[in-house]
Amino acid sequence: MRVAVAGVGNNTSALVQGIAFYRHTGSLVGIHRPTIDGFGVGDIEFVAAFAVSEAKVGKDLTEAIFMPPNNFPRLNSELAMAAVPVTKGLVDATEVDRVAAALAGAEVLLYSAPSGRPETAQAYAEAAWNAGVAFINTTSDAVARDQMWMDRFAAAGLPLVGDDLASQFGTSVVHNALLRLVEERGLTLVSSYQVVLGGTEDFRNLVENPNTKKQSKLNALSGADNVQLAPLGYLSELKSKKVAHLNLEAQGWAETAVSLDVKLQVHDPSGAAGVNIDLIRIAASALRNGHGGYPAEAAPLLKSPPGTAI
Ligand SMILES: NC(=O)c1ccc[n+]([C@@H]2O[C@H](COP(=O)([O-])OP(=O)(O)OC[C@H]3O[C@@H](n4cnc5c(N)ncnc54)[C@H](O)[C@@H]3O)[C@@H](O)[C@H]2O)c1
Repeated sequence: MRVAVAGVGNNTSALVQGIAFYRHTGSLVGIHRPTIDGFGVGDIEFVAAFAVSEAKVGKDLTEAIFMPPNNFPRLNSELAMAAVPVTKGLVDATEVDRVAAALAGAEVLLYSAPSGRPETAQAYAEAAWNAGVAFINTTSDAVARDQMWMDRFAAAGLPLVGDDLASQFGTSVVHNALLRLVEERGLTLVSSYQVVLGGTEDFRNLVENPNTKKQSKLNALSGADNVQLAPLGYLSELKSKKVAHLNLEAQGWAETAVSLDVKLQVHDPSGAAGVNIDLIRIAASALRNGHGGYPAEAAPLLKSPPGTAI
């Protein structure tokens, strides 16, 4: 599968390094689905990469992923040069044609730039559509939830996947599972909250610019009316780790109290890569099978699939 990435941040680092790790070791630890429609985890070839930082543009993808502020650790695996020079990305619609030309030969564009910049997200979607490439929006900005974009991709026979990936074992997935458990066991939820701290550039950006993320996080939770989300916190010392505290207050038999507190700690970019590897294979397979529009198989891997609030 020939894949282009827009954004050479921590998630791209975890994805590029992880694919090399799995190819080298043959390990299946941390892999949700070893194959999807016959594609293995190692069957991905990066053919283009777009960035805006001076430090990354012009470097090979396998070098650019280690440039600050990226702080996902260097994994202990051989990393052959990708022979993919990182090229200048776009920030708005004025450079769509140049980026579309650079997408020639790609099957999928994985959009992994910062959340909270809907114009940039839509400009990359336009470039993918022009180039006949499937588009995956991993950010909280609305593209797949926007019916206009879904109609355009579907009419062109191109898959459109989004919005906002749900980390493989992240706050939303764990919180949602606990909320469902309370309901399934017949308890009544009284209140619930989550406090999430992280030390990545993504966290720094989301603390400054939370505009589209909060709604997307609420989209991922069932019974969200009783759930409070504390503002995200950035602590540089956490580096690529995320720490989440979840609290659920409920009532059981005869209205007696039940209280649950959970602490979750993960490497945030690993949680993204573990899902992006499936989204890429779902999108590539849909493209090759001629299925345009939204592949329903992607829904459990997203916080804000089509039909959720913007
Ligand atoms: N678990 C997770 O990590 C997770 C979960 C859900 C969604 N996301 C989203 O995934 C995206 C990527 O996360 P990340 O941790 O890799 O972020 P990051 O900040 O480490 O990387 C984003 C990169 O995109 C670059 N960039 C900025 N503008 C660009 C442009 N116009 N074109 C190309 N590149 C541009 C930045 O310089 C940076 O290198 C974010 O939008 C994040 O909110 C992440």
